[in-house]
Amino acid sequence: MKADRYAGAGRRWARGATLVYGPIATELVAMSPHPLSGRTVLDAGAGTGAVSSALAAAGACAVAADLSFDMLAWNARARPPCAVADIRALPLPAGRVDDAVAAFVLNHLAEPSAGLAELIRATRPAGAVLAAVFSNASRSQARDRVDALAQDAGWQVPDWYVDLKTNAVPILGTAEAMRGAANAAGLAGIVVEERPVDVGVTEPEQLISYRLGQPLFASWLDRIGPRRAQEIASHAADAIGPGGLAAADDVVVPAQDRVRGDQQPQPVAAGFGYHAEQGREQGPVCPVQFRAARLPPLQDGELVAQDQDLCGLPCLRAPGQPQPRC
Ligand SMILES: C[S@@+](CC[C@H](N)C(=O)[O-])C[C@H]1O[C@@H](n2cnc3c(N)ncnc32)[C@H](O)[C@@H]1O
Repeated sequence: MKADRYAGAGRRWARGATLVYGPIATELVAMSPHPLSGRTVLDAGAGTGAVSSALAAAGACAVAADLSFDMLAWNARARPPCAVADIRALPLPAGRVDDAVAAFVLNHLAEPSAGLAELIRATRPAGAVLAAVFSNASRSQARDRVDALAQDAGWQVPDWYVDLKTNAVPILGTAEAMRGAANAAGLAGIVVEERPVDVGVTEPEQLISYRLGQPLFASWLDRIGPRRAQEIASHAADAIGPGGLAAADDVVVPAQDRVRGDQQPQPVAAGFGYHAEQGREQGPVCPVQFRAARLPPLQDGELVAQDQDLCGLPCLRAPGQPQPRC
């Protein structure tokens, strides 16, 4: 299994990075070629649950997997069943989930085809596989500015991040590459799209919180402590100024719809990319409402082992929501 680069990043990711990833998750889920209500949907590379929340809002029953215990542990009582698992070896029998969503996790793999193949294996025939990755073309002044200010304050770019950005992230970062990977994996009804999405994050404080919510800052922020971190954030907010510096970050989000062999192609799904354009808020993102039941606190021992079935855990359902097939 890979090293957990998100250890210690759960709280800041949930409170900061999710400002951007949350709206994107909502858009990605909305691009399913069929309604997801009542379906069991895997949130692979779930992190702190941006996609799981969007799935719940869509009436789906999410099950989640992520390499990072810390990310899954965030708000665990209110979250769907989950397992610490590598996306390349999911604790699910073949065809166990109706659909699968992978937001910003395939771009963590040096061989993304292994992750895509596993998503396809776990998804039943004619289910949708939706995926989002970063765009190679995108740029962000705000991100670069925050990084530079953090470096001035003593932060050093971790080697693993340099390696990730150099060797893994670019692999799927074009529509052409994403389409090629989907084709090679045997998906059908493939739609890949790259487009900006206004996530409505424009204020300097939001941009800084978003950027410093990334795991590459986690150990440094822990080391310098909350007071110093707040000073640096305030300084960065002054430097960026009111209205921010245009784009919050860079993303491409292709998605694929899959249909196996002899089946009729499903309606197409779409993918997208985003950037946050300053001063150009789009409509509000629907608030997520869904937490009718509670799971016991997430403990290591309660996580599903590799040879167990993640869907064996109870799914959370909203009142009146149909019993999932899982
Ligand atoms: C950029 S975050 C995205 C989190 C979440 N999907 C979201 O949109 O907020 C990437 C997540 O993928 C997880 N991850 C990285 N490599 C993984 C792997 N090989 N298998 C499973 N999860 C992985 C990380 O632990 C992290 O939580």
